[in-house]
Amino acid sequence: AGGISNIFLHRLAENIQDAYAEAAGIAEQAISYIRTLYAFTNETLAKYSYATSLQATLRYGILISLVQGLGLGFTYGLAICSCALQLWIGRFFVTSGRATGGEIIAALFAIILSGLGLNQAATNFYSFDQGRIAAYRLFEMITRSSSVANQEGAVLASAQGNIEFRNVYFSYLSRPEIPILSGFYLTVPAKKTVALVGRNGSGKSSIIPLMERFYDPTLGEVLLDGENIKNLKLEWLRSQIGLVTQEPALLGLSIMENIAYGRDAALDQIEEAAKIAHAHTFISSLEKGYETQVGRAGLEMTEEQKIKLSIARAVLLNPTILLLDEVTGGLDFEAETIVQEALDLLMLGRSTIIIARRLSLIKNADYIAVMEEGQLVEMGTHDELITLGGLYAELLKCEEATK
Ligand SMILES: Nc1ncnc2c1ncn2[C@@H]1O[C@H](COP(=O)(O)OP(=O)(O)O)[C@@H](O)[C@H]1O
Ligand SMILES: [Mg+2]
Repeated sequence: AGGISNIFLHRLAENIQDAYAEAAGIAEQAISYIRTLYAFTNETLAKYSYATSLQATLRYGILISLVQGLGLGFTYGLAICSCALQLWIGRFFVTSGRATGGEIIAALFAIILSGLGLNQAATNFYSFDQGRIAAYRLFEMITRSSSVANQEGAVLASAQGNIEFRNVYFSYLSRPEIPILSGFYLTVPAKKTVALVGRNGSGKSSIIPLMERFYDPTLGEVLLDGENIKNLKLEWLRSQIGLVTQEPALLGLSIMENIAYGRDAALDQIEEAAKIAHAHTFISSLEKGYETQVGRAGLEMTEEQKIKLSIARAVLLNPTILLLDEVTGGLDFEAETIVQEALDLLMLGRSTIIIARRLSLIKNADYIAVMEEGQLVEMGTHDELITLGGLYAELLKCEEATK
């Protein structure tokens, strides 16, 4: 009886965990969007949805208690019945003279005590079960293999930096029904600069995780020097790519360590990189220079300074491929000009994909690729696209109109 009720309890415990996880999800969502929630005075709705999601756990809780109670009743019922049976049979043994009353009583106690012991063990089985269920979810997460890991793949002897996106289809795992790229083509010849432009949400930034292989395309392929990047060693591939975005990730370390970023580099190499990034002047003016702590607990830095540090980091990495995503998007005009100068130096001799909101910054790119709804719609030089009079010309007109 204990075993059977345990099987039911196992199922129920799994369900109740799921129900709690869902309720916790709702609470977490509410907390992380608390500002929006309050701004729209939506507390009642949030409370209501949390309460309804808890209803499920209440139902399962009642069921669990019911099963536990029934299980206990059955177990004790069986125990008492078996005692009665034993006494009844014992009577025949005593009357036929095959055993004494004392022996029957001793056997009875032995059985009762061992039964109690077993019963206590059974309640512990439930704890084992609970542990197993909890561990099951953990292990599910630990053993989830990422489909993109490739530690074995090939290494190209000397990467030239020819990039090609060939008929790439892609959607994010979190929203598989929304296509981000649908039949996207892009060719970046070695050491050339291709600017990617298009309206917000057209899928420009989504090129980056595909190139870095944080994701793989659903369909189609991304090639580096004619080799599908799926076949390349992941670590090597990433070491070929320098990434600078609008939100540079600075660690709570010294400026020097933030530029070196885990690689062995001598101070003069770091200084050299900082000079190219136009960061040397401001770093030297600091009291502790390159030893200054940055990050949350350290020096408060401006956007411009942070971006310069991440440019210096990319210079030191010396990658074949450079991905720049709206680097200067949050800067004022003066800072933008200086950072753009540093970027121009960084881009020299590298295959670059540059995404910029302000079209005037990418006029000089070798090619301009225009994206619309996850597809490449135009590609050419600035002059060619102006003559074409398509989307690029339209976007340019819009930008000039807002000035
Ligand atoms: N990590 C993500 N998970 C789910 N959807 C995303 C993610 N990043 C971007 N998107 C969606 O992909 C679409 C394209 O975004 P993005 O590539 O950032 O465009 P762009 O850079 O051209 O503005 C948008 O609709 C955006 O909401
Ligand atoms: Mg973007």
